[in-house]
Amino acid sequence: MKHLLEVDDLGAEGIESVLRLTDAFVEVSARSIPKVPALRGKTVALLFFEDSTRTRLSFETAAKRLSADTMNFSVASSSVKKGESLRDTALTVEAMGVDAIVVRHGSAGAAHRVASWVDASVVNGGDGWHEHPTQALLDCYTIRGQLGGVDGRRIAIVGDVKHSRVARSDVAAFTALGAEVTLVAPPTLLPPDMTGWPVRVSHDLDAVLPDVDVVYLLRMQHERMTEALLPTLREYTTRYGLTRRRVDLLAPKAIVMHPGPMNRGVEISAEVADLPQAVIIDQVRNGVAVRMAVLFLLIGAGTDRLARDLVSAAVDDHG
Ligand code: CP
Repeated sequence: MKHLLEVDDLGAEGIESVLRLTDAFVEVSARSIPKVPALRGKTVALLFFEDSTRTRLSFETAAKRLSADTMNFSVASSSVKKGESLRDTALTVEAMGVDAIVVRHGSAGAAHRVASWVDASVVNGGDGWHEHPTQALLDCYTIRGQLGGVDGRRIAIVGDVKHSRVARSDVAAFTALGAEVTLVAPPTLLPPDMTGWPVRVSHDLDAVLPDVDVVYLLRMQHERMTEALLPTLREYTTRYGLTRRRVDLLAPKAIVMHPGPMNRGVEISAEVADLPQAVIIDQVRNGVAVRMAVLFLLIGAGTDRLARDLVSAAVDDHG
């Protein structure tokens, strides 16, 4: 596989392969010197046209733990401010000698466009409303770690599905691995055409909660709302926010997830975000190892077997 632009590039087998490889990199990340020479001599460029904390930092950390060099691009301090196009920016970055480019952009399809212009491998770090495949991979890895697997799990994805690239990638990944997904949202926050979505839909969060293993809250994406989709945020929170009362409707082993950044007090109460069943920080932690696995698969030796060999060699090196 050359690029990772959407979850369907991997399919179920590809996702499982990333998750297996991630196990090896979790082990590396837990060491006192969390570094292996897997991508020594390679360069990973981070081309971020939209704000990010988790994706940018975890890709940078992942690349460094694999001994790759990194090149950071931030639109606010770049020649994009002088009118440089996406294509010229991508070609300029590539000309400096990069092996992989992680692209975050506000427009759906931006990562695909970059992949069509450059020879380097391209990873979609989130494009508009379209997809965020590495978020879905770290979510699958987190569910597997918490609940033993994704197959057969009942997962409610709650909130602003319409504007959410995370929802699109998660639905693709969770259902590919055999989960049953229910989208819970007001009609105005669902895509207008859901033909082909392998999901159930509900508008009643209280009715759904007792039957799920995972409740996955989406961020309310104020920056992408160009029309009035909700009467008030307070009404949204009353009907769809995960409050302490609603957590008590969940089964004892159910977990609470959120991709971040959270709007505490809107889609999730401040108290719930800090409960033990909220695994939001585990998602962030797993993001580094998952992104190590993705970079390794795209520009490293490429197989779990080789990763395991590298990891054991590094154990020997570091004692
Ligand atoms: N979940 C996520 O993509 O977070 P960032 O926007 O901080 O990268």
